[in-house]
Amino acid sequence: MTTHAVTDRTERSEGREGTAEATQSMRTPAALADAERWTAHNYHPLPVVIAEAEGAWVTDVDGRRYLDFLSGYSALNFGHSHPGLIAAAHAQLDKLTLTSRAFVHDQFAEFCQSLAQLCGKDMVLPMNTGAEAVETAIKVSRAWGYRVKGVAAERANIVVAENNFHGRTTTIISFSTDPDARNDFGPYTPGFTIVPYGDLDAIAAAIDENTVMVLLEPIQGEAGVLVPPAGYLAGVRALCDQHNVLFAADEIQSGLGRTGRTFAIEHEGVVPDMYLLGKALGGGIVPVSAVAANRDILGVLRPGEHGSTFGGNPLACAVGAEVVRLLRTGEFQKRSAELGERLHAGLNKLIGHGVVAVRGRGLWAGVDIDPALMTGRQVSERLMARGVLAKDTHGSTVRLAPPLVVTEEDLDHALAQLEAVLTEGA
Ligand SMILES: Cc1ncc(COP(=O)(O)O)c(C=O)c1O
Repeated sequence: MTTHAVTDRTERSEGREGTAEATQSMRTPAALADAERWTAHNYHPLPVVIAEAEGAWVTDVDGRRYLDFLSGYSALNFGHSHPGLIAAAHAQLDKLTLTSRAFVHDQFAEFCQSLAQLCGKDMVLPMNTGAEAVETAIKVSRAWGYRVKGVAAERANIVVAENNFHGRTTTIISFSTDPDARNDFGPYTPGFTIVPYGDLDAIAAAIDENTVMVLLEPIQGEAGVLVPPAGYLAGVRALCDQHNVLFAADEIQSGLGRTGRTFAIEHEGVVPDMYLLGKALGGGIVPVSAVAANRDILGVLRPGEHGSTFGGNPLACAVGAEVVRLLRTGEFQKRSAELGERLHAGLNKLIGHGVVAVRGRGLWAGVDIDPALMTGRQVSERLMARGVLAKDTHGSTVRLAPPLVVTEEDLDHALAQLEAVLTEGA
């Protein structure tokens, strides 16, 4: 596959020298200070101020270049400034950007049809952020429970997993087990049962006549790229079928090519009742999320019960339809599977040399750093100094998720930088 990643040898070497020579920065400190001064401190970003990007590479305000190994938490699966996606956005910008759902626009049906077909489902409900897709699934499953399954009013229950990450709304954090996400934001929304991830017996025990949905990430991203035991997702599918419960797969981070398949749940040959999609669906350009499901589920919603001013807007649909076209080629999934093997082979060699465990699938890895050596944050900072941007999670884990357009050479370069960071030691 041809990629639009920067592949020119000279340009790239210059870029790497640029990172190595990164000493006298000019604009970065002031830009960081201004951001610190004028924004709430709800994030703790690495001290880099990005101004431009193409493919797997970003350039900061002082001209230093870095390999992006986070990809906007997988929102940039197709790389920065993918020419096809940018062209679709530009073309739509000149024509029509917003109608609200009070009217229908000419990009709507095509996007919804192509996404529904990609998912093998009857229909989709488009929203904007991932959290909104999750909220949509919660509302739909409850309404389905009352109107179809016959659950008694106000009794609907949803089973979720420990260490989940499904977003930041007050309802979603009500079933988070992460104190940072949850503490001091109560009172919490009732109606959720939390069970250990990967434990089928726990799900079986949690399901009762009021259970309307089991909501899971097929791979838990924020928790550290945790892959459940083989057979788990298939077992959940069987339990949901047995008890007439909806199975929703939150593929917002794991989906759309990231793991080497269109959906991470495909690795187990499982089809959920609802796919929750976001992040890469917007091509790294606009927030686009959606729930895809069959008519007997999404059809429970009636006009006026749910919606969003921006959900399914013309710009989002034009970009989203192009994302679906890219996924239909299968090239990104193939690339992620092939390069993913190279990534994991390289990372596995580091086990015992500063790395204690590696998890993941495709171009997605959670790398547990030996806590005696360094924290995940320290590793991320040192990688940054060597021109690779990655993000830590939960103390000692570093997440690696390059855009799927990354080249073999770039991948090897990033692996060499990680090895160098670990060899240097604390
Ligand atoms: C699995 C999963 N679900 C939901 C979300 C929330 O998406 P958003 O930040 O777009 O609301 C995220 C974000 O990281 C996620 O990883």
